[in-house]
Amino acid sequence: MAVSQQRGLRSRLEGKRVVICLGAGGVGKTTTAAALALGLAKDGRKVAVVTIDPARRLATALGLVELANEPQRIEPELLEQAGVQLEGELWAMVLDAKRTFDEVVARLAQDEGSREEILANPVYRELSTAVAGSHELSAIAKLYELYEEHDFDVIVLDTPPSRNALDFLSAPTRLLGFLEGRALQVFLAPGGLTARLFGRGTALVFAIFARVTGVDMLGELSHFFRSLSGVIDGFGDRTRAVAKLLRAPETCFVIVTSPEPEPAAEARFLADRLAEAGMPAAELIVNRFHDDELGDRSVRDVAELLAGELGDELAGRVARNLGDFDLLARRDRQTVASLARSVGTGEPTLVPHLDREVQDLLGLAEVAEHLLL
Ligand SMILES: Nc1ncnc2c1ncn2[C@@H]1O[C@H](COP(=O)(O)OP(=O)(O)OP(=O)(O)O)[C@@H](O)[C@H]1O
Ligand SMILES: [Mg+2]
Repeated sequence: MAVSQQRGLRSRLEGKRVVICLGAGGVGKTTTAAALALGLAKDGRKVAVVTIDPARRLATALGLVELANEPQRIEPELLEQAGVQLEGELWAMVLDAKRTFDEVVARLAQDEGSREEILANPVYRELSTAVAGSHELSAIAKLYELYEEHDFDVIVLDTPPSRNALDFLSAPTRLLGFLEGRALQVFLAPGGLTARLFGRGTALVFAIFARVTGVDMLGELSHFFRSLSGVIDGFGDRTRAVAKLLRAPETCFVIVTSPEPEPAAEARFLADRLAEAGMPAAELIVNRFHDDELGDRSVRDVAELLAGELGDELAGRVARNLGDFDLLARRDRQTVASLARSVGTGEPTLVPHLDREVQDLLGLAEVAEHLLL
């Protein structure tokens, strides 16, 4: 125990500039990301947390009422009111996936004209909504932008409830594969390949479509890909840089799970995928851990102990309740022990199941205390 305290998460996160929280749905990724950020800011760092769909009350507590798509500093007055003191600075934002994607494209477009053209193109609007809809790519794009263009000591990234960590890791590469791939080259190549690709039948369908909807799909498509060609090189460089950042020693993945069997299985799955992708072992955080154990006492012992104060009936009920918690606590301890053997650095960080939801700065500070031992 002493050893694990000496080498707690706080010291293992030293020197890390990017912390990415992964995990199954609803296990506490957003809570953990925000609490980690707050804890690191408490230690004196300038920290940004990029959250995805935070609960409304948490967003309000972080002062995130306007969706700026840029980190906003948590006002010192807000922190003071909540009784939370930070040596450093805490900045937070809610990711707007579509806007982030638009901003990347706008930045990479060669001139004002092609920028406007791309963003206004109906094909782009559909495509970008679909791509941004997956959130992974935009989250990573935002992360990279903050890393490159701001002076945060640490950036903590929350992620969407993704069933597949590889989606997250490979989203940039897959998009690049598409952009650099043959399909697109065919579109871009001069000499009417587009027309050849779409035989007469298809052309007819497009023509009818154009007449009915007023959108010249084929025209828009080839136009779109042509105006996008300037963006592709930039996208390629950027994507490769992002892939490098994800593998850099200053980047750390954190797998968050609750002790329930399903999320725990997901945690194992994520750890395996990270390993397959050649990433270093992630940190493991077990959230909502039950630790009310009866120890050597039996339910009957407890009932007898309380009977004097509570009367037999109530004492019995309280004791049985404690017995239920004891079962949960034992189950959780077993899950953690087995997870520790297969996931992470071998020393999971435990956050107990708190009596109330974590939706304000004080709640985050409490979680941070458990995280950063
Ligand atoms: N240790 C804890 N004790 C009690 N409640 C908690 C704890 N951690 C998180 N919660 C609560 O659990 C709920 C889910 O947490 P959170 O939104 O962080 O999960 P998530 O993994 O981000 O979910 P999603 O996958 O939907 O994004 C929230 O209401 C939060 O307040
Ligand atoms: Mg979340």
